Amino acid sequence: MNALFSPDFLRNPYPLYAQFRQNQPVLFMEPLGIWSVFDYEHVKQVLFDHARFSSEFRPKFEEGTEQRGGGFSLITMDPPRHTQLRTLVSKAFTPKAVAALESRIAAITHELLDQVSETGRIDLIRDFSYPLPVIVIAEMLGIPSEDREQFKHWSDEVVASADSVVGATNSESQQAHEEMNAYFRKIIALRREEPRDDLISALLAAEESNTHLSEGDILSFCALLLVAGNETTTNLIGNAVLSLLENPDQLAKLRARPELLPSAIEEVLRFKSPLQAMFRTAARDVEIGGQVIPAGSRVVAWMGSANRDAGKFAAADKFDIARESNPHIAFGHGMHFCLGAPLARLEARVALQAVLERLPDLARADQDPLTPARGFIVHGVSSLPLTFTPTKRLD
Ligand code: HEM
Repeated sequence: MNALFSPDFLRNPYPLYAQFRQNQPVLFMEPLGIWSVFDYEHVKQVLFDHARFSSEFRPKFEEGTEQRGGGFSLITMDPPRHTQLRTLVSKAFTPKAVAALESRIAAITHELLDQVSETGRIDLIRDFSYPLPVIVIAEMLGIPSEDREQFKHWSDEVVASADSVVGATNSESQQAHEEMNAYFRKIIALRREEPRDDLISALLAAEESNTHLSEGDILSFCALLLVAGNETTTNLIGNAVLSLLENPDQLAKLRARPELLPSAIEEVLRFKSPLQAMFRTAARDVEIGGQVIPAGSRVVAWMGSANRDAGKFAAADKFDIARESNPHIAFGHGMHFCLGAPLARLEARVALQAVLERLPDLARADQDPLTPARGFIVHGVSSLPLTFTPTKRLD
């Protein structure tokens, strides 16, 4: 089972997934104490069927204590609380609010590319796909630009502590949570006095049948946005550039037909899903794929494997930016379907269009093996050094 943590697996988990799908698509991984589900239909079922596969879970460091801000995180809730909270936050996080961000996303994208365009070198992750989503979320929440660096630090720590889902935690991340909550409490108080055109003001205003979000709900939701929205989008952009460089015919096709960009992004989501797996807990003894999963067991739905299932996708291991039917489940399925999907798609489209236009002759700077991102849930590389023909800054 150590294979699940080896750099070779993390770089390319797909051959092992194929073996699991072929031999035992639902299996108990004894050393890890988890059940794993690998084929498309069953992964979809696990994500969808909240009555049998519950999302409720409290990370270890929160057991027996007040939750982060006294509220519960949307992603680890079941109905009816999930339905109520999701309805409320959806009022603030609308596709219209996201679409309005396009010009700011483009401005931040070009600012980041301006910093490297004349040098002919970029670490696509460090210099671009990592800072972009953090800055976008900070702006969306209404964090003043002078506090951005501090916010980035908290964001890193909060993302790192997301590993508590698989058991690890540390006091630094707990301290960062506390500092960040204190900071957000101040912003919430300010926006209560004087609402602005930002997400926190919209969350404060959201109301459903006379129910408002509590301060704790808003704090938990802000922390969830950092965990759910940053590293995932970083890796979507990184995985897109990597897949295009590894498949020069597809890169040439995209350059010839730029209107294929949205379909290329969907293909990256399928082909190298930024989140490979999601956790659930069996709410009772559950029969699935001929196995009985005992009540209380942790269950992992491997979306990264499901999205390569040849029973669902023609030529599943081929990266095809013009794929006609692509019902991937990289954003999940059912009631927890990613709330940030429109934002992630928008950021990826703006970012990739700018990279393709402004960094000509893009190529790997060396042929060293790439270092995979940490853990088996997030899928991507931690650094991607590239060269290109230098171009002028825009400003
Ligand atoms: C490529 C980028 C992204 C991917 C692959 C992704 C993937 C996912 C997946 C698979 C889920 C479902 C979790 C489950 O079923 O338990 C989810 C939920 C969620 N995502 Fe994303 N996400 C991305 C970007 C974002 C962004 C940019 C945001 C917001 C800024 C965001 C916010 C959320 C939230 C709030 C949930 C919880 C929804 C709920 O529980 O009802 N995500 N995401």
